[in-house]
Amino acid sequence: MTTGHDPRPAPVHLRAGGTSVVVAVDGGRLPRILHWGQDLGALDEDALAGLHRAALPAIGDSAVTYPQPVPVLPQLAEGWLGRPGLTGDAEGRRWAPKFREATFDLDPGADGGPVLRSTAHDPEYGLTVEVEIQVLAAGGLVRQRARVTNEAATPYRVQGLELALPVPPSASEVLDLTGRWSLERVPQRRPFHVGEWVRASRGGKPGLEHTLLLVAGEEGFGFRHGTVWGTHLAWSGNQVLAAERTPADTRHLAAGELLLADEVVLGQGESYRSPWQYGSWGTGLDALAARFHRHLRARPGHPRSPRPVVLNTWEAVYFRHDLATLTALAERGAEIGAERFVLDDGWFLGRRDDTTSLGDWSVDPAVWPEGLEPLAARVRELGMDFGLWFEPEMVNLDSELARAHPEWIFDAGHGPGLPSRHQHVLDLGHPEAYACLFERMSGLVESLGIAYIKWDHNRYLLDAGHGPDGRPGVRRQVEQAYRLMAELKAAHPGLEIESCASGGGRVDLGVLEFADRVWPSDCNDPHERLEIQRWTGLLVPPEMQGTHIGAGESHTTHRVHPLDYRAEKALWGHLGVEVNLLGVDDETRAALGRWVAFHKEHRTLLHSGEVVHADLPDPALRLEGVVAADRSEALYAFSVTERPSTWPPGRVRLPGLDDDRLYSVRAVYPGSPPPAGAVLPPWQRDGVTLPGRVLRLVGVEAPSLDVDRSVLLRAVSRPAS
Ligand code: DGJ
Repeated sequence: MTTGHDPRPAPVHLRAGGTSVVVAVDGGRLPRILHWGQDLGALDEDALAGLHRAALPAIGDSAVTYPQPVPVLPQLAEGWLGRPGLTGDAEGRRWAPKFREATFDLDPGADGGPVLRSTAHDPEYGLTVEVEIQVLAAGGLVRQRARVTNEAATPYRVQGLELALPVPPSASEVLDLTGRWSLERVPQRRPFHVGEWVRASRGGKPGLEHTLLLVAGEEGFGFRHGTVWGTHLAWSGNQVLAAERTPADTRHLAAGELLLADEVVLGQGESYRSPWQYGSWGTGLDALAARFHRHLRARPGHPRSPRPVVLNTWEAVYFRHDLATLTALAERGAEIGAERFVLDDGWFLGRRDDTTSLGDWSVDPAVWPEGLEPLAARVRELGMDFGLWFEPEMVNLDSELARAHPEWIFDAGHGPGLPSRHQHVLDLGHPEAYACLFERMSGLVESLGIAYIKWDHNRYLLDAGHGPDGRPGVRRQVEQAYRLMAELKAAHPGLEIESCASGGGRVDLGVLEFADRVWPSDCNDPHERLEIQRWTGLLVPPEMQGTHIGAGESHTTHRVHPLDYRAEKALWGHLGVEVNLLGVDDETRAALGRWVAFHKEHRTLLHSGEVVHADLPDPALRLEGVVAADRSEALYAFSVTERPSTWPPGRVRLPGLDDDRLYSVRAVYPGSPPPAGAVLPPWQRDGVTLPGRVLRLVGVEAPSLDVDRSVLLRAVSRPAS
């Protein structure tokens, strides 16, 4: 790897999926990324060495701060005054490690995409660190992680291990997400100033307010324009994402697990490995999201069967369970085309409301005298599979479990801590607690033939101390939850899991190793869902987002919407119905059936295509859709979310089509005819046929609609004549 002109080894070029990552590997130092982004084409060693030389900054000899290029694991001892990579100590010593003599091993044909592994040592401290950087072939994502090993006799306490992905100075704006219950994933943007913009999750799960991604991009970037780079941590526990710009004008996106005191204390020979930090880039947010979607879809475990349309009982009956009602609901569900019946909260011992019984995972004979078997059998007879709700990691103090095993409840020295929704957290770090849970859940999955678990998690972990001494147990809890999901799936092949945490509180690539679906929000109001799904979609493809048609009057916002708008917003994801079908008229059920049928007709497109969003200048308007991977067809929704200040709404461009193909475009109405009050542009009468280029650059006139109304547009490529 050397050149005639330069004694330094040439950088390593990792190239896959349209992404180049060029990594400096000289000086015995850990890797430093010189370029992450657009594919640079094949580069020989001279070109790579030249790229390296050209990338070195004009820094005089006296400057010791902020080494450039930014190391993936920056350290104070090498002059880095920003967020440190590894922090830790051994009884107050060995706190400023300096890793040297790095060795590099490039595996160009590694499973999934080329990987560079580097190992370096701090011999004085007895620490070794290994860094892996991989570019994934399926989507062109980059991911990296590190492992630190203590070789010394004194235990080494890891306080943090954060990795950094550099972005260029053209990344001048930062986007992240916030939110709350029933309003997850609200975007916020700011200039990329010098300093740190830090988003931390400390509640034992990412949380409702968690930013799925931290994105830096060119000024004014949108879904279709401006280069963006984003990072995500594949971890369902405490974590930090940070965008840092230093006084030397380096910019990077950092990610790592947040560790509590003594959560990771390494004895001699022991290691801690960080979760994967993922990075995606693209021209516009759609391209960034598409890389995540392609990566997830390429995994062997990705759900590939058509996503069964769900009938969920929560908003239909809440805790009012009985066999006759739920059987009737299942029958109505089958009539409208549901394929999976999910019995939500309320089925287990004593659970009449949310104040008691979490932990008592046996069917309540008072409500279900014959058990759940008759319901499950009827559901299957109707051609649906059977799903059941659990909240495995939680316990009510008013439960048989808590009374029998108070020592299994987290306690950092002041008792079980604050209740939230009347509940506390079961410490899965106790092997007996874990075994008890596995046995009860697995037994029910077996005996009831459960195909699907809705896995809820409604309380944050606060002072979650592991008994008897109260040391923090948050990290282990996440590992045990993963283990429980994995072992249940291994014991019951085909079992699917939904990750729900009061809605979108546990949405990340860590849990998606085990979960087949996320519940983005408890809010089924289509006005809110449009935005929640749009931003959740930066990470999660449509087929993994649960999208349910809720009641006419939303249970969370009390807004009232017509069925067509509720159904249209649910159409795109893993469709479900949460309406009380026993309380609606025949016409509503028939219209629901038409929407379910339309979804089934198009779900292959919806669940395999590329998600696109037009950048419309008027924030009152939205256009988004899915374009088939082969560009043969697309479905778009044009929506009005506020009253536009000008009228009519004007032209909308249809993104994502093949410029050189002809498409016929027409409006489709799966439920009822055009919404009342709609004024349709002339082209909608017979449709229009235009090249993809014209549709992309010129677009079509949008219909004039009232607020919270939409029209679906279907584009189909015409065979060449
Ligand atoms: C919170 C979930 O997000 C809801 O969908 C529902 O399952 C309730 N918990 C049940 O208690």
